[in-house]
Amino acid sequence: MTTIYDRMRYPSAAHVDTHPASLGALAQLCGLSPKRRAYRALEIGCGEGVNLIAMAMSAPESEFVGFDLAATAIDIARDTAARAGVRNVLFAAADLTAIGDRFGRFDYAVAHGVYAWTPPPVQDGLMALLGQKLAPGGLGMVSYNVRPGCHIRQVLRDELRFVTDAIADPDEKLAAARAFLEDRVKVWESEDPYRLAAANEAKAQLAKPTHVLFHDELGEIYAPQLFSDVVAHAARHGLAYVCDAHANLLEEAFFPGARTERARRWGGDDWLRLEQLSDFDDLRRFRRSIFTPAGAPIDRRFDPARLAGLVADADLARAAPDADRAHAHAFRTAAGGEIEIDDAALAGFLDRLIAATPRALALDDVARDADLAAGVARLFLGGAIVLRARPLDWTLTPGERPRASPLARALAAQGEEKVASLRGGMARLGDEGVRAFLMLLDGARTRDDIARDMAARMNVPLADAAQRTPSVLAHLARLGLMQA
Ligand SMILES: C[S@@+](CC[C@H](N)C(=O)[O-])C[C@H]1O[C@@H](n2cnc3c(N)ncnc32)[C@H](O)[C@@H]1O
Repeated sequence: MTTIYDRMRYPSAAHVDTHPASLGALAQLCGLSPKRRAYRALEIGCGEGVNLIAMAMSAPESEFVGFDLAATAIDIARDTAARAGVRNVLFAAADLTAIGDRFGRFDYAVAHGVYAWTPPPVQDGLMALLGQKLAPGGLGMVSYNVRPGCHIRQVLRDELRFVTDAIADPDEKLAAARAFLEDRVKVWESEDPYRLAAANEAKAQLAKPTHVLFHDELGEIYAPQLFSDVVAHAARHGLAYVCDAHANLLEEAFFPGARTERARRWGGDDWLRLEQLSDFDDLRRFRRSIFTPAGAPIDRRFDPARLAGLVADADLARAAPDADRAHAHAFRTAAGGEIEIDDAALAGFLDRLIAATPRALALDDVARDADLAAGVARLFLGGAIVLRARPLDWTLTPGERPRASPLARALAAQGEEKVASLRGGMARLGDEGVRAFLMLLDGARTRDDIARDMAARMNVPLADAAQRTPSVLAHLARLGLMQA
């Protein structure tokens, strides 16, 4: 069977919050004991497989299985894994509603961007599969669009589908959709807040990669969910909700504050109702819900001891504090944000984290210091640092024979503009020269060999290529693309 995903590709990307090391850290903080190593992980609807191959590369002793209905996507996934030399991953073309006993059971299972884009029987099949495939203590993550935030997107979808309905050719359909969206932005730019919200949504759609626009906005099915309905659906298949993969949704569970107090009026003491109410507060649009087989000892109170066995890493630098807060310790995040900390012990922890980069810091000592542990947890929930169940492996100081991630090189060789980073997520290469440079970093060539190859390839003097080599290597290392 040929699917729409066979006719038009869906860009495949690594999503760090689906990684067993990330899911495991959150589950451990919620009182569970997930496997940190030698696990089996499944990706349902894995598309072209970049997410799964990136995970498999970072956990070579573990076993990964991915399947998708689109056979073309699976062929690409297999080819990428083979080119990258990643052998602990198996791909199959299969329908999630007809898996039966195939593949065995798993400690982790992920379905990213599938649930809210499929009809009810497939949605039900997905939850049933999760219920059936998770081993005791296993963790399953399902991401989906949620209401109320996704209602506004429905306005655009209705209109886009109406105006492009009669066009069969995918490229023509896309061109018409983009032209219509541009028109919407003009029509809706006004003082009226409702129109303005729709105009902003149209702008956001225009900024998307065209293939994503095609599938996400013009596709037949779009079914944003209520969080509480998904949790109830999962429960019918023997699954209990643990938490969201986006750590900040746990903040009020770990450290209840004014927001929880206010929401108790409608939610009582039921955490699941309080989370639903937080979606209403934030007009949330997307969730990444983590489930586990029912009966697990889920406990969302913060316990410092649960940091033991986890590691932390961060992309931070020291900064100068504001003049009127000279006693504070200031740090800058990679995204340009600033954090100010009064607590010297917590600031000292961040200094150690920065000094250790790219190595992660084990949190066993922190787990024995209740105040420090609470500070570290708050930084994690606020997005300033990352906690994982095992460290990632990459280097900031490439050696004499630099070796880049084989997955990044394979993707670059396929002409991709964005490649999977060893730090998690995707890295944009920038230009053709950087892509060509990356493809040379196979661990066999010396820095001199690389400069010679680049000089010939880019038709520049050898001295110029040799001078640029260290800075391009440093750039690729910062992007998390270097292994050695
Ligand atoms: C929006 S894409 C998401 C792909 C990928 N998980 C990602 O996040 O980039 C949805 C994927 O679900 C797959 N899919 C849809 N129905 C399926 C089914 N019944 N069985 C297996 N895969 C399915 C599609 O082929 C497509 O690759």
